[in-house]
Amino acid sequence: MSDFLKKKFFIKNGIYDFDIFDDSTKKVTEFYKESPFPNYGKKDNKLTILEKGNKNILTSQFKKFIGYNKNVLEVGCGTGQLSLYFSIGTNNNVIGLDPTKESLMLAKKFADDNNISNLNLVKADIFDDVLNDEYFHFIWCNGVLHHTKNPERAFNILAKSLKRNGYVLIGLYNKIGRVRTIIRKYIFKIFGIYVLKLFDPTLKNLKNDKEQQKAWIRDQYLHPIESLHTIDEVLNWFDNNNIKFVNSIPSFDLKPDYNNIFKDQSRSSTLKRIFFQFLMIFNKLGSDGGVFIMIGKKN
Ligand SMILES: C[S@@+](CC[C@H](N)C(=O)[O-])C[C@H]1O[C@@H](n2cnc3c(N)ncnc32)[C@H](O)[C@@H]1O
Repeated sequence: MSDFLKKKFFIKNGIYDFDIFDDSTKKVTEFYKESPFPNYGKKDNKLTILEKGNKNILTSQFKKFIGYNKNVLEVGCGTGQLSLYFSIGTNNNVIGLDPTKESLMLAKKFADDNNISNLNLVKADIFDDVLNDEYFHFIWCNGVLHHTKNPERAFNILAKSLKRNGYVLIGLYNKIGRVRTIIRKYIFKIFGIYVLKLFDPTLKNLKNDKEQQKAWIRDQYLHPIESLHTIDEVLNWFDNNNIKFVNSIPSFDLKPDYNNIFKDQSRSSTLKRIFFQFLMIFNKLGSDGGVFIMIGKKN
């Protein structure tokens, strides 16, 4: 079934295939080709993917909230681990879109090896706007738009394919909250990988897996295209696309409750929003790369 696509397509190796034309997207696919992200661990199988997703407060809530019988899109799915997680044990129609063939091939192999049949993979550039309008109940796009040539335009395109009352989740590098990673980037440049290992907590946790370490270092410190964003910027994107702000991480509360991320939160004030982005520098959000999350619902 390909009713989620509005442009003429070919299927290659079981993947809906569109040619990639844009130079900056090609640069990014060349980058991920060498080290697909996120890499699979040696022991990964259906159960470990499920365990990883269930352990993460954000992905497990998102999956529960989706429920069943929905159209779900992951933009920039990479090797598809999250799209696979959303597919396993559900009858949802999950679509993973990414321009990097090598990453999608890993996703396809994993899906085939594990008899997961409700995940469709699309090799395409988000800017080529190949997905049907108002088709998806849920869109997840984490860690992707800041690696594109024009994140706002990419957002406008993905927002078109969201249904009315559908939810979108966006994760982006924060202009303030990523300061620690930017400092680590300089440490890496001057002193190299061994010193970096002392300062990067994610890297420390991956100590036994060289391939995953390599994928993380490349993604965080050597990426050819990277931009930084703010909560207010994304609020503007939401407004321009008729999307109501629902919640964010960081939330605007000193004792945040992230167990109910689909509950409406007030936008608060500009000053408070800046303050909570500043706090990211000192908490886990800032130590893990400085990604902030915004959730919205289409009116
Ligand atoms: C850091 S990885 C994130 C992968 C996954 N979302 C995650 O959180 O693990 C960024 C992904 O964005 C994809 N990407 C980059 N430019 C893109 C574009 N123009 N359209 C769609 N995806 C893109 C890359 O191929 C890569 O798989």
